[in-house]
Amino acid sequence: MKLLVTGAAGFIGSTYARVAAAEGHELTILDKLTYAGRPENLEGVEHRFVHGAIEDPDAVRDAMDGADAVVNFAAESHVDRSIAGQDPFVTTHVIGTGVLLDAARELGVARFLQVSTDEVYGSIESGSFTESSPLNPSSPYSATKAAGDLLVSAHVHTHGIEASICRGSNNYGPRQYPEKLIPLMTLNALHGDSLPVYGDGRQVRNWLYVEDFARAIHTVLQRGNPGEAYNVGGPDECDNLTVVRRILELTGNDESLIEHVTDRPGHDRRYSLSSDKVRALGWEPAVHFAEGLERTVDWYRANEEWWAPIRSGEYRAYYERQYGRALS
Ligand code: NAD
Ligand code: TYD
Repeated sequence: MKLLVTGAAGFIGSTYARVAAAEGHELTILDKLTYAGRPENLEGVEHRFVHGAIEDPDAVRDAMDGADAVVNFAAESHVDRSIAGQDPFVTTHVIGTGVLLDAARELGVARFLQVSTDEVYGSIESGSFTESSPLNPSSPYSATKAAGDLLVSAHVHTHGIEASICRGSNNYGPRQYPEKLIPLMTLNALHGDSLPVYGDGRQVRNWLYVEDFARAIHTVLQRGNPGEAYNVGGPDECDNLTVVRRILELTGNDESLIEHVTDRPGHDRRYSLSSDKVRALGWEPAVHFAEGLERTVDWYRANEEWWAPIRSGEYRAYYERQYGRALS
């Protein structure tokens, strides 16, 4: 297939691009290169690159012309940044998704895959969300992702677009920008900086290794029913304090680095997905959390040339704004 993959200079999109390129698909990548978009994430992946935004109809038509399918990863992906300011979230997730859908219809693209998140369902005390659970987002990040999902469903219903939605749980693995829990705590631990745990640290996430999510997306693109959503949850749930303690062990540190800081406003307590529907398509996760976390910490330890430019750039200023202190 000729695939247009948006946002593939980021964490999950670049992993997906590797999976798709290895199968011989021809890739065009459209990416705005925000702070999280890094061309070096695509090293070794054959592709045509279009530098542009999904909310720009001209860039989208240029990139989408001739595509058999579109996989949309382009996003502002961090909840804390959405709390600090929602505008780019609205632009990318709502306007951008709408521009992509219009172009896909005009250009007659056969298949559309929207990459989304478990956070659109909100928090769940016990049990797991299914695809028929109501959308109940808590943050500007998840609210705008939910709006994007609803636009996709509306275009399926109204215009007959062959689109599916993949809702993943928390991803982790190589090349994740260190604003997210696991790479942030790993790099802080490697530098002897304190580890800022929000509130009591007992919030639970359903951890999914990034390559497993990439394979699930490819499965839904090829075998999913148009017009339907598929939940993709990781095999293990774990609370934040347990994650942080394990990272301290893996980096040879003790718990004195843990610092409980002011909780995130509106913090969702627990996410959990039932993945029965995507498993029925033949997908299953290959990497358990214990093994994936070790692999991830090893990757950050071995790839200083990847994170050193980040820790000395925009991220330093972000960190100071978000945490009220400087990195070492
Ligand atoms: P990321 O922040 O690492 O990468 C996002 C990419 O999108 C970057 O390359 C960025 O430059 C690009 N981008 C941002 N705005 C754009 C725009 N307007 N036009 C074109 N490109 C733009 O994000 P990620 O963690 O790889 O997430 C990818 C997708 O997966 C997102 O849709 C996110 O909502 C979803 N998702 C993420 C997780 C997670 O745990 N990270 C879990 C489930 C779903
Ligand atoms: P994050 O990686 O931001 O993902 P999400 O909010 O999308 O789940 O956060 C994962 C969990 O870790 C979440 O409960 C918030 C918590 N957290 C901290 O305790 N400290 C931090 O510095 C960060 C970034 C997250």
